Amino acid sequence: MTRKLFVTTALPYANAPFHIGHMMEYIQADIWVRFQRMQGSEVHFVGADDAHGAPIMIAAEKAGITPQQFVAQVAAGRPQYLNGFHIAFDNWHSTDGPENHALAQDIYRALRANELIDVKTIEQFFDPDKGMFLPDRFIKGECPKCGAADQYGDSCEVCGAVYAPTELKKPYSALSGATPVLKSSDHYFFRLSDPRCVEFLEQWTHTPGRLQPEVLNKIKEWFAKDEEGQGGLGDWDISRDAPYFGIEIPDAPGKYFYVWLDAPIGYLASLKNYFGKKGLDYDAFFADPAVEQIHFIGKDITYFHTLFWPAMLHFSGRKTPDKVNVHGFITVNGGQKMSKSRGTGISPLKYLELGMHPEWLRYYIAAKLNSRVEDLFMDPEDFM
Ligand code: 2FM
Ligand code: ZN
Repeated sequence: MTRKLFVTTALPYANAPFHIGHMMEYIQADIWVRFQRMQGSEVHFVGADDAHGAPIMIAAEKAGITPQQFVAQVAAGRPQYLNGFHIAFDNWHSTDGPENHALAQDIYRALRANELIDVKTIEQFFDPDKGMFLPDRFIKGECPKCGAADQYGDSCEVCGAVYAPTELKKPYSALSGATPVLKSSDHYFFRLSDPRCVEFLEQWTHTPGRLQPEVLNKIKEWFAKDEEGQGGLGDWDISRDAPYFGIEIPDAPGKYFYVWLDAPIGYLASLKNYFGKKGLDYDAFFADPAVEQIHFIGKDITYFHTLFWPAMLHFSGRKTPDKVNVHGFITVNGGQKMSKSRGTGISPLKYLELGMHPEWLRYYIAAKLNSRVEDLFMDPEDFM
């Protein structure tokens, strides 16, 4: 039986070149896509850069260029990796493209019409020198539990404690060094806790064949409430205040979508951009019930792809994913995550420069991967 497939890999942040982890995911998906094509199926395989968010905005400012110029520079470096490892996306786009702006705003309007958007006032740290609210990772200070210096605003690397940035002792802005002040502002929330969302997601996640068993087990934890009825799915803060590099929220001056709201919409935007270039009908494609939408992702972004994303699509009247394939991390040296600073990284370009054949790595990764969410241990001896 031939199939009609829309296939994606996670959209990488446009703030750095690809590392071996990206290549592993692309190779996994590319091999799967080639197999489907050999079977005679129609496959549309797309990727894109994930362009928005505070870290990219701040990195661009440091480099003295606009965020648009910054992401364009990173994007210019993509083909040598993709071509070098024979990864044949049909299209590579950007979440800052016009299709994504329009789609994100359309989806938001539909969610709002469905009464799934709330506005709440929240208090957050504000950098008075920079004139901006600080994301958690740009606030540092002493750990409220163990007192360790220079800890990030969300968790302590010394004692492992997790806390709110407002709990830090002697907080300072990692951008300016200034002492942040508390300031309130209105934030927009997607009401994931709405019974309609909970009911839909219970059914969507439990559909046989959709998710790997270990992924479903994890999701059950996220659904679970304690004896007092606390926990379970919480509402999701989808707005950020200017200055922010992102997509403007309709009818909300100075507010932008949080990068994770528009990132997965980038899958649709890339497909739409591709269909536009090919003269294919995007709306007709999604109206066809035979179409299967398949995502390949890493385990760290499961929450976004199995809760927020299907709910956003469903409640904006769109097709939801048919399958989310989750893989583990690629590790070296007995299970450590790759780290450039520790010299345990393997640069994909270095690999090619040394004259090693791309198919060797493709074969190795294909042979080591399986359908489970397991980390892949890359051992140079084993590889040789
Ligand atoms: O974790 C990441 O690297 C994100 N940029 C993945 C986004 S996937 C999709 F939602 F765009
Ligand atoms: Zn600590």
